[in-house]
Amino acid sequence: MENQKQQLQDSFGRRFKYLRLSITELCNFRCNYCLPDGNPCDTPKGGMSLLQIETLVKAFARLGTTKIRITGGEPALRKDLCEIIALCKSVEGIKTVALTTNAFLLKRDAQAYKNAGLDALNVSADSLDPRMFAAITGKNKLQDILAGVDKAVEAGIAQIKFNTVMLKQFNYKGLDAFFEYLRSHPVTWRFIELMQTGDNGQFFKANHVAGEQIKETLLAQGWQRIIRGEEAGPAQEFSHAEFAGNIGLIMPYSKDFCATCNRLRVSSQGKLHLCLFAENGVDIAPLLASGDVDASCEAIRHHVMEKKFGHFLDEGFTGATKQLAMLGG
Ligand code: 5AD
Ligand code: SF4
Repeated sequence: MENQKQQLQDSFGRRFKYLRLSITELCNFRCNYCLPDGNPCDTPKGGMSLLQIETLVKAFARLGTTKIRITGGEPALRKDLCEIIALCKSVEGIKTVALTTNAFLLKRDAQAYKNAGLDALNVSADSLDPRMFAAITGKNKLQDILAGVDKAVEAGIAQIKFNTVMLKQFNYKGLDAFFEYLRSHPVTWRFIELMQTGDNGQFFKANHVAGEQIKETLLAQGWQRIIRGEEAGPAQEFSHAEFAGNIGLIMPYSKDFCATCNRLRVSSQGKLHLCLFAENGVDIAPLLASGDVDASCEAIRHHVMEKKFGHFLDEGFTGATKQLAMLGG
């Protein structure tokens, strides 16, 4: 039985059943909106130990968390990724283990992820044109990635989503190609509005496309809004009778985005971030290393009460987040 009093809740009544756990800040791609020059040289090379991760996931599960998303950086750069998936899955109360990846190892490892217990997969793919893909990510890997997704489908990973950051000067012109893909593929393709971070000011100005603009295109082409459950995150979803797949829009600048926030984040260095754009996270790494689940629960609950209502992004505030590789979006 879940103890109601134990449930994580902030001072605005928002519940947090979903944890985004970054396991490394390292990434091998150079997405132009995130790490155009690759990881800075002061990027920490290691991440939390398996013991720290276990303590963390047990503490969150005890506080009512049912879903863990493993993110990075690029999580597949950790050789113990499958162990981490299995560990998360084995904790009582955790129903869904999800992974966000650039998919560079998916073709090789999809079956291993599935065997470890992976339930859901988000693949970052910013274009369906190989040359545009390479221009955005610095890697000529589109075909490998699509082949990896086919393997994931074959392996039986049921929930597969693509994530694309919309960029005016790059992939925006190729919007129709994403729609075409969805005619025959039963996946959800999510378009993410570019967010301004500490590092990408100029780029943001030149490339930001308002999510509302994409929404108008969708509605004009007959896509219809799907009403989603209470547990659903901030994405708006759309379906269309002639298409096998769905579309999601993630519009962090829209008015009600923060009201439906259902997630907390922990960085690869064991800092609890109450918001993607909050000031420096709270360091719970030493507590997690002690293996003390009770004390970790107390600390997490205490900090969550301090979560602010919104991110103030529309006021040009980007907080401590220089690029999202730090926290995995
Ligand atoms: N704006 C929006 N999304 C971003 N991501 C990284 N940087 C940004 C940004 N500036 C997200 C993308 C990518 C994931 C790893 O992080 O969704 O797929
Ligand atoms: Fe790496 Fe993701 Fe950032 Fe691209 S967006 S550089 S894949 S962390």
